[in-house]
This record gives sequence, C-alpha cells and structure tokens, in this order.
Amino acid sequence: MFNLLIKTIWLMLPAYTPNNFAVLFGGGKPIDLGKKFIDGERILGDGKTFRGFFAGVLGGVATGIIQYLIEKAFSINIYAKYPFSVAITFFILFSTGSLIGDMFGSFVKRRFGIKRGEKAPILDQIDFLIFAFLLAYFHPIFSELFDIRIIVIAFIITPILHRITNLIAYLLKLKDVPW
Ligand code: CTP
Ligand code: MG
Repeated sequence: MFNLLIKTIWLMLPAYTPNNFAVLFGGGKPIDLGKKFIDGERILGDGKTFRGFFAGVLGGVATGIIQYLIEKAFSINIYAKYPFSVAITFFILFSTGSLIGDMFGSFVKRRFGIKRGEKAPILDQIDFLIFAFLLAYFHPIFSELFDIRIIVIAFIITPILHRITNLIAYLLKLKDVPW
C-alpha cells in the first residue's frame, strides 16, 4: 500500500509541478487577452498568462526528464522502462493537460462569478488532474502504468497534497492565501 502511494506520487509529479512553475514564472499577457465572455466576466482572468502556461509545460516536462534520469541512475523502471522519446511525449501530454485543466477551472470559476484568486473547493484541486488524464489517455504509458488503483489513489491524495503544498507556499510567503 505504501509502495503504491509512493508510486502514485512519482507517476503524478509531471502533472503536479506545472502549476508551481506557472506560479513562479507566470505574469504578463493574459491568455484571454483581457477579453470578456458574453456574461460580462473575464473569459479566464489575469491569473492565466502565456508565460505561466509555457513555463508550466516546460517545468512539467523538465520534471519528467529529471525523474527519467534518476530512474536510470538507480536502475528503477517506471518511466525509464520506455525509450526516452516515448517518455517525453507522455510528459508533454501530461503537463499540457494539467495546465489546460487549470485554465478550464478558471473558465468555470468566472462563469460562476468567482473572482481570480478566490477559491473554488474541489474544482481548484482536481480540474488539472482530470485534464492531465484526458490528454494522456491514449498514450501507451498511461494505459500501461496508470491502472485503476493508481487513478483512484491520485484522486484521493491530490486534494490533500494540494492543501499541504499551498500551506507551505503561504508560510514561505510565495502565496498570499493558504489555498
Ligand atoms: N499562473 C499564470 N499562468 C497560468 C497559470 C498560473 O501566470 N497559466 C500564475 C498566476 O500568477 C496565478 C498563479 O500562477 O495568479 C496561481 O495560479 P492559480 O491559482 O491557478 O490562479 P489564480 O490567480 O488563483 O486564478 P483563478 O481564480 O483563475 O484560478
Ligand atoms: Mg488559485
């Protein structure tokens, strides 16, 4: 059970880190270009920027590459079971999906009149997870490594990990709010 928990976190890392990179390197031009939706609210809001998106994708892929190299160095065979090029395509899909999910979450929040930065329980914690899985769904790494147990555990632990990391970011004064 403990091994399965560690394996789940390890497998999920390239989908977890993109948002942290977006927080660290984001800013500048918003993806919705400041435009409003038909309901008069912003399409996505100022919290979703081009820089954040690309830094997030690169950060997620870099995380995966580092994991791949660590596995090779210690003869572990999770991601490293696959050729480097196959693993890379998975990391790209997984981290891009994570950020698309984050954008989708903001789109939904704006439609409910929730302002940028205000919390939306559950949505904030699993929007990225669902889209990361969706984008990676047809990739061989997903079908072979992400069995149903891993997916269920990911849905259970992600909100908990999300809370813990945001609390740490708040205590380190990287974020203004603890969510
Ligand atoms: N960020 C970014 N570009 C992205 C995603 C995130 O620049 N594509 C940066 C923004 O500075 C954002 C911060 O990361 O404020 C935190 O991300 P998140 O919590 O997802 O955004 P919020 O500001 O809370 O906005 P929203 O209410 O739309 O989720
Ligand atoms: Mg937020």
